[in-house]
Amino acid sequence: MQSPRSQHWDAALRVLRYLKAAPGQGLFLPADSPLQIYAFCDSDWANCPLTWHSVTEYFVSLGNSPISWRTKKQPTVSRSSAEAEYRSIAVTTCELTWLKSFLLSLGVHHDRPMRLFYDNQAALHIASNPGFEKSIIRLQEKCDRLFQGLIDERRNNKEGKTKTMIGAMLALQDTEPENYSDNIIEGNISSMLLAGTDTSAVTMEWALSLLVNHPKVLEKARAELDRYVGQDRLVNEPDIPKLHYLQSIVTETLRLFPAAPLLVPRESSDNSTVGRFDVPRGTMLLVNAWAMHRDLAVWDDPTSFRPERFEGGENGAHKFVPFGTGRKHCPGAGLGNRVVVLPLAGMIQCFEWVRVSEELVDMSEGVGITMPKALPLEAMCRAREQMIRIRN
Ligand code: HEM
Repeated sequence: MQSPRSQHWDAALRVLRYLKAAPGQGLFLPADSPLQIYAFCDSDWANCPLTWHSVTEYFVSLGNSPISWRTKKQPTVSRSSAEAEYRSIAVTTCELTWLKSFLLSLGVHHDRPMRLFYDNQAALHIASNPGFEKSIIRLQEKCDRLFQGLIDERRNNKEGKTKTMIGAMLALQDTEPENYSDNIIEGNISSMLLAGTDTSAVTMEWALSLLVNHPKVLEKARAELDRYVGQDRLVNEPDIPKLHYLQSIVTETLRLFPAAPLLVPRESSDNSTVGRFDVPRGTMLLVNAWAMHRDLAVWDDPTSFRPERFEGGENGAHKFVPFGTGRKHCPGAGLGNRVVVLPLAGMIQCFEWVRVSEELVDMSEGVGITMPKALPLEAMCRAREQMIRIRN
């Protein structure tokens, strides 16, 4: 301590803060006490009858001496006892991490793993079932092999004419290796597959279901295709900007049946006020896009399927959010739109679509991460004559 530095000053401050928080607690560490940290934590779910906040409780001992304990209301309302338990485990883990560095600043190296005891049934269930862990690891390895295979295929096929996203990212690997390592490219592929496939597929199924229930709309979409694309060739990507009515059909589908009806759960990073509500930092935020899209106060006849509402340039700002909004909104919105519009255009151009019976297709929503139909669409189709000619 002859030449104190800022880290010594920090350590001294930490000791003072710690002692200040525990005056007269009789903290005593016998010389022969083992320097092993143990912690016990629990939570009391929805302990407060007014606010439904739960309580975190923990107790930490170093050897046989208690060194830290706390009972504190959780800042965020937990929706289940399991969630409240996870929050208390998280808070206790932070305390343990802090205590470890505190001991280090006193010159005590705590190299052994710290032991945390809790009775979170959800975590215990997962931990006690090695099958879960094994199958997750197996699945991860399978995905890694698949994604690495796709990257290697592109890497070894540099001459290939087709432009692909993996190819574009590999091209950047030379100039920005740290931002485009194979690992990061794999992560991007997996995000795109997870976020981009089901969302587009369910939207297409909802759109076709709406169309067979509204044959006049279907007829109008086909007339638009015949007018702008004709019957001598297949519709292609450059035709999309001309197909305004088809675009309105997809937009109206996303309004009535947004693939992510509650968007993606977010957590507020700061205290804020929304309308008359104070939203504390760390609150889980779910945006009910489904309800916003059917709000009578902002939409005319909101439950009807009327693609025409978007034809007059209906301004969807702030009330139409199937891709979210702001900085965290869907980065694949443009692609997602095209991925739905183009195949739908092809299906309408090439086939006649009708319901399997007089009865309307059931439009109830099922349960899933992306909102599926409760009953999968069943419809009949017949190839249009002129399209058979193109194929031949
Ligand atoms: C009809 C198709 C799609 C719909 C309805 C959709 C919807 C959404 C929504 C609602 C979010 C969350 C936004 C928020 O929290 O505010 C999201 C995020 C995301 N989407 Fe899409 N999406 C679609 C297609 C795609 C496609 C094709 C891709 C990429 C190939 C994609 C990639 C992503 C990614 C990576 C995120 C996460 C962004 C982040 O959290 O930073 N999506 N999408």
